[in-house]
Amino acid sequence: MRTQVGIIGSGPAGLLLSQLLHLNGIESVILERQTREHVEGRIRAGVLEQGMVNLLREAQVSDRMDREGLVHDGISIAFGGRRERIDFYGHTGGKSVMIYGQTEVTTDLINARLAAGGILKYEAPALAVEDFLTGRPRIIYEEDGQKKELVCDLVAGCDGYHGAARPSAPAGATQVFEKVYPFGWLGILSDTPPVDEELIYVNHERGFALCSMRSHTRSRYYVQCELDDSVDNWTDDAFWDELRRRLPPDAAEKLITGPRLEMSIAPLRSFVVEPMRFGNLFLAGDAAHIVPPTGAKGLNLAASDVFYLSRAIIAYYHEKRTDLLDRYSEACLRRVWKAIRFSWWFTSMLHKFNDDPFDYRLQVAELDYLTGSAAGRTTIAENYVGLPFETFE
Ligand code: APR
Ligand code: PHB
Repeated sequence: MRTQVGIIGSGPAGLLLSQLLHLNGIESVILERQTREHVEGRIRAGVLEQGMVNLLREAQVSDRMDREGLVHDGISIAFGGRRERIDFYGHTGGKSVMIYGQTEVTTDLINARLAAGGILKYEAPALAVEDFLTGRPRIIYEEDGQKKELVCDLVAGCDGYHGAARPSAPAGATQVFEKVYPFGWLGILSDTPPVDEELIYVNHERGFALCSMRSHTRSRYYVQCELDDSVDNWTDDAFWDELRRRLPPDAAEKLITGPRLEMSIAPLRSFVVEPMRFGNLFLAGDAAHIVPPTGAKGLNLAASDVFYLSRAIIAYYHEKRTDLLDRYSEACLRRVWKAIRFSWWFTSMLHKFNDDPFDYRLQVAELDYLTGSAAGRTTIAENYVGLPFETFE
């Protein structure tokens, strides 16, 4: 089989890239290891930056998001027995974020690709990418128990942290940067009204907590947990009790609980691979970088990679230009590292790393300083709503 752009992975990165290329007359094929049901059933984050919202509108997949998504102009941070609101709108010249689940984004993109006749192969895992440094790249994949080849001009590795694209890069050509945090997040999804209109990030002596949502009737909550903890250790009641103990009193009183729709534990890590391009193989999204979920940057970074990669590929086919392909990795990594920094900083400030009361006092002092200063509030707000995409043309 042959196509112009071979895309590995039907997460948000691969799907959005395929859709943007299609709208510009460029053909692609997506290979996905899992079933469609599995891909659409994964519960992930749900905060979209303005830049991602704009890109989804450009991709013509924004109707349902614009109808059902919730626009948020701020968040609260609770610490040291009080709660402070960070007003995004006022501190960023009118910017906000959109609350709309990654699961919904994925479904909208899959429907748009299929409606346009796009080729999405499920249960078709890529095994390796070959010949991307010298000639025409080939993706070796499996379908119906048979080994097959997809021959392409360019390959986009959008296959997440455990994918096949990154390991195909030549040995010694990559540099990896990594930090693993000594805790995880235990999350619950429930059909209960959110405790507040906006998200609440909580620094508490017992550990971090987060109140998030998917809609006016569906909540997503998290509590910091031990790395070796297991959902089997948690009944619904135990989760709600622990969450209530970490919330500010007014929120704890208002909390409405209910049975879990889902409960899971996620480890926290920061990870970057450099570069993000090897000849005609380009990495995008989680295949190239992971951030801890504090600040919800993972999905948005996948979107900003796709912003740069789509433009570079369009310039290549429409104008025979290779300069944007050459600049892809550097442009992505500049923004990636700023999000890596913000997610690490936000994580460090809000989580319990040890039992040292000195460290806890320092965190409270830092949060007190930041929320008490216009500069401090601005630095949180402008990073949270998302740093701008660079001009790339
Ligand atoms: N062959 C084909 N598909 C693969 C392979 C493979 N060898 N390995 C992994 N995949 C698929 C996965 O099953 C998954 O559907 O690649 C897809 C990668 O999608 P995501 O993990 O969603 O990654 P990405 O599209 O980069 O989205 C960014 O932001 O919120 C964060 O981590 C969260 O998924 C989110 C990410
Ligand atoms: C979520 O809603 O799942 C969520 C929100 C904000 C975060 C992380 C996760 O920082």
